[in-house]
Amino acid sequence: MSIQLKRIGHVGILVSDFERSFTFYTEILGCKVTSRRQGADGSEAAFLRFDDTHHDFVIATAPEGVDVSEAKGQQERLIQQIAFEVENRDEFMRALAHLHTHGVKIDRGPLTHGIESDGGLHGSGSRSFYFRDPDGNRLEIFTDGMKVPNGEPFPRPEYAEAIEDFMRTQRGATVQGQP
Ligand SMILES: [Fe+2]
Repeated sequence: MSIQLKRIGHVGILVSDFERSFTFYTEILGCKVTSRRQGADGSEAAFLRFDDTHHDFVIATAPEGVDVSEAKGQQERLIQQIAFEVENRDEFMRALAHLHTHGVKIDRGPLTHGIESDGGLHGSGSRSFYFRDPDGNRLEIFTDGMKVPNGEPFPRPEYAEAIEDFMRTQRGATVQGQP
């Protein structure tokens, strides 16, 4: 017997400036507010949702004296990335346009995680782009990642070898890349 997890229900992060992050996640990323609470000590928390789930994402004031934005390098951060999925390519384009219009710098992408752009046969195939939240956390918006049903290997054996050969012989690529 083993545990079958379904998906990540929500992620909560500590933020250095609550109002700044609240504005970013609600006004720029379009999260809806299910509840916003203030503790006796003035710390705040907001339970945010994307659609109709009670909360998909939580932000909370970091404790006094804790600087969550201190680590400047990606390698030093506790959170490697938080990826938000959008419905389809149209929404992906809309999100990119929206963020650009609001002055959010895109660090990486848009790209496809796969043979289309970074050469990886092992990539998810998602279209992705990356940016930062106000504390420097790495965020991703993506769509159209491949599914890997239980029990099935990935990449799919019926085409893996031929595509690997195609990439090597016609693209001069080594078949790696990032998921
Ligand atoms: Fe990702």
